[in-house]
Amino acid sequence: MTVLRVFRYAPEEGKARYVDYQLEMPAGATVLDCLYRIKHEMDGSLAFRSSCRSAICGSCAMTINDSNRLACKTQIASLGRVVKVEPLVGYPVVKDLVIDMDLFWRQYRSIRPYLLSKPSPPEKEWLQSPGERRLLDEPAQCIMCGACSSSCPVMWTDDRYLGPAALLKVWRFVADTRDSARLERLGMINNEFGVWRCHTIFRCVDSCPKSINPTEAIESLRRAAVRQSVAALIRRR
Ligand code: F3S
Repeated sequence: MTVLRVFRYAPEEGKARYVDYQLEMPAGATVLDCLYRIKHEMDGSLAFRSSCRSAICGSCAMTINDSNRLACKTQIASLGRVVKVEPLVGYPVVKDLVIDMDLFWRQYRSIRPYLLSKPSPPEKEWLQSPGERRLLDEPAQCIMCGACSSSCPVMWTDDRYLGPAALLKVWRFVADTRDSARLERLGMINNEFGVWRCHTIFRCVDSCPKSINPTEAIESLRRAAVRQSVAALIRRR
């Protein structure tokens, strides 16, 4: 028997509470399976997000036993008898486990998260060495679930900070040899609300369900930004 202790919040009631649901689940069941069992058989008013059920879309990121995880990837057998399920922290709660990710997507859009290719493209294709391509492997794995940004204490206190997810994405394009906006991108993050706001707390690393290391990306951006600033100073002399 598993007890799912679920955070419930209805905007019309204006107050939050925890509700315990007792469930008999088969071996291998995930937290998402439990939430669907509750919704379909016990309380249809429970609200949560999910889509792919394959740890690809990032929709079902939530706080499970005080850690940010994907509900579809987290088996209850690994969690003990009582499993606490809450919405990701740091974002307004819309209802139950559904959060308002407007800030997250605004920050994401602000960094122009797409390839800005060079004005004169090659006749056939851009060539990259295996080493150049390997640099993109990790940041390209990001599924934009928001678990990292939600776990960052700096984000809780200042929503002007770009946060680990957006900074990881900046690094993904700065590291891409096909991108032509490297200088502009470094300018975006070389300031008090970009890479210099990160206090290297590492919670973003611990919370990533894809084992990506946003802190390392932020460090790489810092090095690139410093090199860029020093080069600009030397040119001005
Ligand atoms: Fe936040 Fe991660 Fe930096 S938790 S402070 S973005 S290392």
